[in-house]
Amino acid sequence: MAKHGCVAVYPGSFDPLTNGHVSLVKRALNIYDSVIVSVARNSQKKPLFTVQERVEMAAEVFADEPAVMVESFEGLLVDYVKRRKTNVILRGLRAVSDFEYEFQMALMNRKLERTVETVFLMTDFRWLYISSTIIKEAARLGGDVTELVPALVVERLQEKYGVVPLPKTS
Ligand code: PNS
Repeated sequence: MAKHGCVAVYPGSFDPLTNGHVSLVKRALNIYDSVIVSVARNSQKKPLFTVQERVEMAAEVFADEPAVMVESFEGLLVDYVKRRKTNVILRGLRAVSDFEYEFQMALMNRKLERTVETVFLMTDFRWLYISSTIIKEAARLGGDVTELVPALVVERLQEKYGVVPLPKTS
């Protein structure tokens, strides 16, 4: 498959990484030579996991994928993207609800730096309804999220919340 031939920066909070994020990175690798999963340090949100924990979890998940690098960044995203010698910001789009926020962010980033482009990939339909926020809510209350996040994230969530997930009933 022909590739765009450059590096895509995939920024986010990743608090924590979900199967939706993992799927997006894997699909992006069909287009780009490499993807940098970039955990934002100065997010406005109050995170459950520290930046270091989030970077470690993502690095472990992508340990077998040499084309994926994981790191954190601080400050303006567009400045960081330029420091990484690329011009591509990768973001996932789920439903209509994401659009307004993503559109605003993409336009602001373009205003700040015209050479940087935001590229959106539609989330695979299997992960359309999940977000880090809803995963944390379910896990906090003992819900089973094993099919929605990587196995090591399930363990970390259990450690954080100190709850054992309920066995699945169908
Ligand atoms: O996963 P999230 O929380 O939706 O990711 C948001 C993120 C980290 C991509 C965004 O908040 C960001 O880019 N922060 C860095 C600071 C910055 O550049 N802000 C201006 C962008 S409009």
